[in-house]
Amino acid sequence: MTVPLVIDTDTAQDDCIAILVGLLDPQADLRAITMVAGNVGFDRQVHNAWMTLNVADRLDVPVFLGCRRPLVRDWVSAENVHGDGGGGLTIDESGLAPQKEHGVDALIRLAAEAPGELSIVCIGPLTNIAMAVIKDPTFVTNVKALYIMGGSNNARGNITAAGEFNFYVDPDAAKTVFAAGFEITVVPWAPLTLNDGLFTRAEVARIAEVGTPLARFMVRVCEATLAFDESVGIAGSTHPDSLTASILLRPELVTASGRYAVDVEADSELTRGYSAMSWGVHGLAANATVIESVDHSGFLDYLIGLLGTPTIPPRAFAPEL
Ligand code: RIB
Ligand code: CA
Repeated sequence: MTVPLVIDTDTAQDDCIAILVGLLDPQADLRAITMVAGNVGFDRQVHNAWMTLNVADRLDVPVFLGCRRPLVRDWVSAENVHGDGGGGLTIDESGLAPQKEHGVDALIRLAAEAPGELSIVCIGPLTNIAMAVIKDPTFVTNVKALYIMGGSNNARGNITAAGEFNFYVDPDAAKTVFAAGFEITVVPWAPLTLNDGLFTRAEVARIAEVGTPLARFMVRVCEATLAFDESVGIAGSTHPDSLTASILLRPELVTASGRYAVDVEADSELTRGYSAMSWGVHGLAANATVIESVDHSGFLDYLIGLLGTPTIPPRAFAPEL
C-alpha cells in the first residue's frame, strides 16, 4: 500500500533525514517538498534540500518555496544549533530550480487533486499549513492527516524552557492549525524525542559503518547538531523529524500514544510556543493523537535499512562525502 505524502520542511540536519525516509521507504510516494522559514536561512534550506535529493538520486522531486517568514512574528534562526544544516557540503546546483508555484498553493492543489489521500509531514514551523487553511477552507477536509513534529507533552521546550522551536517560531500558525479540524498526529520534542528519538555516538557509529553515500551524508549533516546537543547536556543526535516521517510510514514503531487536546500559546513572551496538551481530565475535546513512546531500536534499524540503499549521487559533493 503506497503512502502519498508531502514534506513541509525547514530543511536542516534531521529534516534532511526525514526527506530521505520519504524518498527511500518503498511504500512512500513523496509528491513534493515545500519549504518554510525555520532552522537556517531560507535559501540555505533550499540548498540543503537539493543536496538531500541529490544523495538519494531523486532530483526529480519538485521543490516549492513557501513562506519566508512567520505569520506575525519575525523569523528566529536555529543556526546556532545546526550551523548551515548541511554539514558544510555543497553541490553544483546549475540547472536546478524550484517550481514557480508558491508552496502554499502547491499544498492546496496537491491535496485537492487527491481528496482524503494526502498526508503532510510537517517538520518545521506551521506557517505554510496555516496559510493554506486561511486561503482555502476545503484544504482541511482534502488533507488526509498531518504528522506534526512540534511542542512538548507536558515537558521542557528547547529554544526556551516552555517553547519547542517549530511552535516557538510561529506560534500563531501552530494555534491556527490545531484549531482547524485536521486529523493530527504529534511527535513532540519532550519527552518522546529525548527518550526514543536520540542516537548516541555509538549508534551514529553504527550508521557510519553502513558506508553508503546516504549513511555518510546523514552522519555529515548531523555533526553540528550532535555537537550542540552534547553541549547542552543531550547525550546524542536528536532526530524528531525523521521520527515523524518514520511514524507515518511505519506506524508499528509506535508503542504508546494518547488522545490530547492540544493548544499553543501565541501571546505570552514568557511561554511563547508552549504546547498545552490536556489528557482528558480537564474536559477539553481531544484534537490530536500525541505519540508517547516508540520502539527506539526498531526506529534505528529501520533507518539503517533505508540508508543501506546503494545510490549514486549524480552531482559530486564538495568536500567529498
Ligand atoms: O525542535 C525541533 C525542531 O526544530 C525540528 O524540526 C528541528 O529540525 C528543529 O528545527
Ligand atoms: Ca525541522
